[in-house]
Amino acid sequence: MRWPKGVSGLCYGGDYNPEQWFEDVWREDVELMRRAGVNLVNVGVFAWSRLEPEEGHYTFGWLDRVLDLLADGGVKVALATPTASPPPWFSLAYPDALPVRGDGTRLLHGSRDTYCASAPAYRAACRRIAGALAERYAGHPALALWHVHNEYGTVCHCDHAAAAFRGWLRKEYGGLDALNDAWVSAFWSQHYSAWEQIFPPRATQYLPNPGQLLDFRRFWSDELLSAYVEQRDLLREATPDVPITTNYVIGGWVPVDHARWAREVDLVAIDHYPTDAGLGAEEQTAFGADLARSWAGGKPWLLMETAPNLVYTPERMHAKEPGRMIRHSLSHVARGSRGAMFFQWRAPRGGAERYHSALVPHAGPDSRVYREAVRLGDCLSRLTEVDGAPIEASVAIAWDAASWWALQAPGMPMEVDYAAEVQAAHRALWRAGVTTDLVALTDPLPHRLLVLPAHYLLSDDAAAAIRAYVAGGGHLVATYLSGVADEHGRIRLGGYPGALRDVLGVRVEEFQPSPDGWAELVRLAGASQVRPGVTRHGYGAGVAWYISARLDDGAYQDVLTEAARGAGVAAGGVPGVEVVRRGGGWVFALNHTDQAHEIPAEGVDVLTGVAVTGVLTLPAGAYAVLRPTPDLAERRAERA
Ligand code: GLA
Repeated sequence: MRWPKGVSGLCYGGDYNPEQWFEDVWREDVELMRRAGVNLVNVGVFAWSRLEPEEGHYTFGWLDRVLDLLADGGVKVALATPTASPPPWFSLAYPDALPVRGDGTRLLHGSRDTYCASAPAYRAACRRIAGALAERYAGHPALALWHVHNEYGTVCHCDHAAAAFRGWLRKEYGGLDALNDAWVSAFWSQHYSAWEQIFPPRATQYLPNPGQLLDFRRFWSDELLSAYVEQRDLLREATPDVPITTNYVIGGWVPVDHARWAREVDLVAIDHYPTDAGLGAEEQTAFGADLARSWAGGKPWLLMETAPNLVYTPERMHAKEPGRMIRHSLSHVARGSRGAMFFQWRAPRGGAERYHSALVPHAGPDSRVYREAVRLGDCLSRLTEVDGAPIEASVAIAWDAASWWALQAPGMPMEVDYAAEVQAAHRALWRAGVTTDLVALTDPLPHRLLVLPAHYLLSDDAAAAIRAYVAGGGHLVATYLSGVADEHGRIRLGGYPGALRDVLGVRVEEFQPSPDGWAELVRLAGASQVRPGVTRHGYGAGVAWYISARLDDGAYQDVLTEAARGAGVAAGGVPGVEVVRRGGGWVFALNHTDQAHEIPAEGVDVLTGVAVTGVLTLPAGAYAVLRPTPDLAERRAERA
């Protein structure tokens, strides 16, 4: 883990697109950034056509002037390689590098992200522009971080992708026998007798092969990763002292295994845009932040993009109420982000995202949002001292990208949205006042309680790790569909959930999905029923709960609260008041409700300097970050 070079304190800023503006605006920008306390901006994310207007002809003059201005104003730069949006000349010159959908449609220039990551011409063009930027700006005083690409996730099904897919499968399986076995290709006459017979999943007559779908996603994650690594390596060679990252986008369409990618970045960075307009936005924020921390291995990470105000929701854009931008930012910082960065600095005059919000809105700096941006800058500048204090969490929820992908394949007994299942568990615990880590089953598990929501795929090794965890005294809550299939998606036989029957003490003979939701016919095999759809089983020194039916939010919260308490974890708190405790006695308290609340706490609010002795009163929408007083720190040290 490395930090933006030369940035002192928490990072604050966002995407800055000077290529959209005249130079007099740049000067105003730097002055406004200075007033808001902005110390880091992402520059050049979509500037390829301005940097290389013709193939091999570079126009760096404008960027030189921008970076000089920023350096003089004390603002550091996360310099992007602009490879998420190839210029029009590229698409015309290399039509084979345009992406092809599963139905065979080749997409054309006109938006962004229109390329195939397997196309040799695209990869070569990326290396050239990244290399040219590295050469030009290696020694620039503003350069603090390399921001490679933007939100890797674009998929392609063309012949370049097909060739690369075959190469990946050969490495993965060694021979066709193993592949045929993993994909259960005996079904529907899909047995492969030569590698050339294999293609990416493309439009086909009826249901596709789920093993092929799953492996294509795994392959594409690795293919995009290799595109990132190629750029990273050349940037690293040019500037070994400048950390390198790429901003993760999270979504069901994203074929990226972020946990695996985390090993290749110097700093985990996520973009996060809650879509809910109500309290769900705060729950989504906490979830995204906990996920990022998990990918960062519990270490600090960075919120690279979020919206200052208007956010896209499925129906319409939704405005963030006053104060909400600061509370969301503090929630991210509370959960390990080393700052808060936004999309975007200044709202554009046109273009596809012309109404996307910005720290400097269309109305200009004389606006509620910019004033709030100034207040946020002040808050963040006071929080440097909390950076690095570990987040206290004794409950873990498993997160597995491959289970998400496997559950997306058509042909399941009913559609189950894996991410929604994990978020439901996280939400229930958030509402119960319990801070959770999200984990991969290969991570160390010091937690008292482990929740496995719809963890569909379990390898033998992962199942053995869970067994050992519970036998050793851990508490487990597994929900339906966990452990039903092996890592290739092949069903484990003898009764569901094959990999976990013994730990859970149940044997499921039938799934019984209905319009009301998920349900199962469960035979008790050692477990006892706690309530409809919920069983509990003592296993070794631990306890294993099984939730075989979809519970509503209230019932889910009750069950997880009981399981948490049974594991010795305190649960409770004021609904809508988010409390996150950090090592050493730090407390973040955020009142997301429209009423005042009191919570037991002590310390000194670093944002206001006010001392709190026993009870913290938070007016509606208010927030506080309490630094432990020396005597509290001593008492904690004695207790430890
Ligand atoms: C992502 C992208 C940005 C912008 C925002 C809009 O995070 O990286 O370029 O499109 O979404 O919310």
